[in-house]
Order: sequence, then structure tokens, then C-alpha cells
Amino acid sequence: MITLRSVLYVLAFALFIYGLMGLTGPRTAVRGNAIAAVGMVIAVVATLLTPGLGNWGLIVLGLVVGAVIGVPAARRVRMTAMPQMVALFNGVGGGAVALTAWVEFRESAGFQGAPAFVPIATLFAAIIGSISFWGSLVAFGKLQEIVPGRPITVGRLQLPLNVLLLAGAVACAVLIGLGNDVELLLIAVLVLAGLAGIAVVLPIGGADMPVVVSLLNAFTGLSAAAAGLALSNTAMIVAGMIVGASGSILTDQMAKAMNRSIPSIVAGGFGGTADAAPAAAGGTVRSVSAADVAIQLAYAGQVIVVPGYGMAVAQAQHAVQDMAKLLADKGVGVLYAIHPVAGRMPGHMNVLLAEADVPYERLKEMDEINDEFARTDVALVIGANDVTNPAARTDPNSPIYGMPILDVDQARTVIVLKRSMRAGFAGVDNPLYVDPKTSMLFGDAKSSVREVVEELKAL
Ligand code: TAP
Repeated sequence: MITLRSVLYVLAFALFIYGLMGLTGPRTAVRGNAIAAVGMVIAVVATLLTPGLGNWGLIVLGLVVGAVIGVPAARRVRMTAMPQMVALFNGVGGGAVALTAWVEFRESAGFQGAPAFVPIATLFAAIIGSISFWGSLVAFGKLQEIVPGRPITVGRLQLPLNVLLLAGAVACAVLIGLGNDVELLLIAVLVLAGLAGIAVVLPIGGADMPVVVSLLNAFTGLSAAAAGLALSNTAMIVAGMIVGASGSILTDQMAKAMNRSIPSIVAGGFGGTADAAPAAAGGTVRSVSAADVAIQLAYAGQVIVVPGYGMAVAQAQHAVQDMAKLLADKGVGVLYAIHPVAGRMPGHMNVLLAEADVPYERLKEMDEINDEFARTDVALVIGANDVTNPAARTDPNSPIYGMPILDVDQARTVIVLKRSMRAGFAGVDNPLYVDPKTSMLFGDAKSSVREVVEELKAL
């Protein structure tokens, strides 16, 4: 039977999908996000129209608490802290699903009289939702640097421990599925799955965190879809599957970009190792002035700008665009090399450069630009580190060995703008900085680029 609710749900799904299509490019992303948000409001209203919904006081309280915490947090968050925000919001989604499964268990007195798919879907949602909640909290802690970014493990016992925790959660779920209605069993499912989530994410190194957050995001989507199945809520099924599918594709793409397999990421140990070899040891660092940099840039035929996390921290994108305009006026070709995991979130550099009105066609993906470095006079690295580290190509002992990088060291000269010799996110030193063709302009990226702009104007 067609009801107002089902019509509203279909409208909401159409808006989710249309909104998601907008997220394929930085120019349409903001509108896409707004469209999907309208879809979500419609889905919530449709769900609230469910007959006999229950306690309105609690529902309103939940909406108010969620809005009071969520809206200011999302408004105030800095762009560079966005990944931990995503991890936290994602975790909250997984936690909500796990709690929904618990409520479902209680209301049906341990699924008494329910068709078989209800306990199966609910228990699946409880396990995956709890893994996602606790795993996301650890990921948040690592990204926020509350928890050390390096792998934290119990050594060779880690894998057996993870398997044991997960098997324990599944065993308790099976007991419930077989008709056992003791509530402690459901609590054990949630606790063991939660511990499994913590035990899986703690050993994963900082450099793999983006992939992990995206994987947990896919998990939350799948758990919400399973809960939707149990509750016969179409909105949860469709929205959950959209999140599950897009999260899985994003995870796969990011793992490919870092040349890593998802099982090896989950096995842990990549990036941020405490005893990483100091790759920059034993070499001379050449420091230059803004005036030297301006001269090298002004007399170049082609310059490739390589932005990274430091450009985001310094908010240097507008100054970079001013510099590129001055160079273009002098007949210098300027391109931008975009590494898929530069910065701290997918598309981070694209968003910043689009905000500064850098023409989109100047932004080149890694595969497209890497051959171009050999034909380039100056590679200008602005606050990027790991994504330019040649050790990923040449040093099998490096924790980031195998990760595809931007081949900046192939350019005729390399200029690096950063504040110090400190390592990047993965915690490994960068031999690029002691390469004889590299010079370093030390300082905050925005101030440094501004100084270069002034020098260029004076030339
Ligand atoms: P990083 O390797 O983190 O290096 C950034 C560099 O910027 C640092 O070495 C830092 O050196 C410099 N910096 C910081 N603030 C600066 C400022 N105000 N002015 C100038 N320089 C500044 O960045 P990357 O090359 O973009 O690589 C990204 C890393 O983050 C990868 O390891 C990636 O796996 C990881 N990650 C990525 C994502 C996504 S999805 N993009 C999410 C989470 C983690 P100083 O301190 O010496 O200035």
C-alpha cells in the first residue's frame, strides 16, 4: 500500500543519491551535501510519522541533545581536524546501531516468536556496530593525538587475541540465536565486539588511519542496513547500504593509492613506528632565502607545486594562488601535483585549492603528473612530507616502503617549504631533504609564500 511515509522515503532516497553524485567534484560538493542533508531531514520526518512511535518527550530530547552537540562542533571544527570529526561521527552512528540492537533484544524478550532473519540481522548489527563504535573512538584518539599514532600491539599474540574476541562475540550471538534469552549474553556480544574493535585499530599505524576510518565508515553503514532489515525500516536499509557501498569503494581506492591490501592494513604495523630508521641522517641540509626561491621560480620554464598537510595548517592556499598568478604573468607554467592521501582527508588539497580559485585543470593526479617531474625545473613542495618521501620507493626497510609517492626528486631542483626538519604524519624522516638538488625554505608556509610573492613583485 502506498502511504505518505513510503512516498517520503522514496523522495529521501532520490535526494541521497542525487546528493552523492554532487560529491564527485569540489565545485558541486557543497550543494550535493546540502541536497543529501535535506533527504535526511525528510527521512527523519517520515520515520517520526510511524504509527505508535512511542515516547515523544525522549525523541525531542534526543534531537535537541544531538543538535546542541553536533551543530557547534561541526561549525567550529578546523579543516585539518576533519578526519577525527568524521571518525567520531561515524563511531556515534555505529554506537547508535549497537544500542538499537540491544533495545530490540529487550523489547522482543530475546527475539521470542520473531522470524529467523530478525535475530540474525540484529545480532550482526550489534557486533558490527559495536566494533565500529569502539574502533572509531580509537581512530579518533590517534588522529587527535590523545592516543599515540604508532602501532600499539601485544606482538605475535595480537592476531590470536583479535580472533578470540571476535569468535567470543559470535559464539554469544549464536547462543542467543538458538533461543537463549539471557540479557547478559547480549551485553557480552557488545563488550567482546567492542574489545575486538579496539584491539584491531590500536596496532594500526598513523599512516593507515585514513583507510581505517573509511573502513569503519563502511562497517557502520552495513550495521545500520542490518538493523533496518530487523526493524523493517526502509530508510535505514537504503541509507545504510549507500554508506556501506560508498565506504567500501573509498576504502578500496585509498588502499590502492597507498599500494596496500586491506587485510595487511587490518593486520597492522604500518607507519608511525617508534623505531623507524632516521632516513635523513648523514647528509647536508641546504637552507635558502625567499629571495633565492623567487629567482629560481621566476627563471623556470615549468614549476610543479606539491601541496601537503602543512599548506592546510598554514592556510597558505590563497598566497600560493597569488604566487602562481605572478609566475604565470612571467610566462612560467605552473601545475599542481595532488597525491591521493596528501593532507588529512580525501580530496583535502582539491578543496583548499578550489577555495583559492586555482583553476581545476591545473590540478593533476599523481599518475598524470609523475612523468612530468623529469621535465620540470622546480618542484615546489609546500608543507608536504610523506607523499614526497623517496624512501617509499627505494628503502625496503622504511615503514612506508611500497606507498606510491610523487616523484619530486626527479625534477631539476626541489624547494621544500616547512618549519623544521621534523617528520610527517608517518613519523619517518625524509631523505629528500638531504638530496643535493633540494633546498629548504624554513618557516610557516603562508609567511614563506608571502615573502616569495613580495620578492617576485620586486624582480
Ligand atoms: P605530512 O607527511 O603529515 O607532512 C606535513 C608536513 O607539513 C610536516 O612535515 C610539517 O613539517 C609541515 N608543516 C606543518 N605545519 C606547517 C606550517 N604551518 N607551515 C609549513 N609546514 C608545515 O603531510 P603529507 O605529505 O600531506 O602526507 C599526508 C600524511 O597524512 C600521509 O602519511 C597520509 O597517510 C596521512 N593521512 C592522510 C589522510 C588523508 S585521507 N589525506 C588522513 C589521515 C592521515 P614541520 O613541522 O617541520 O613544519
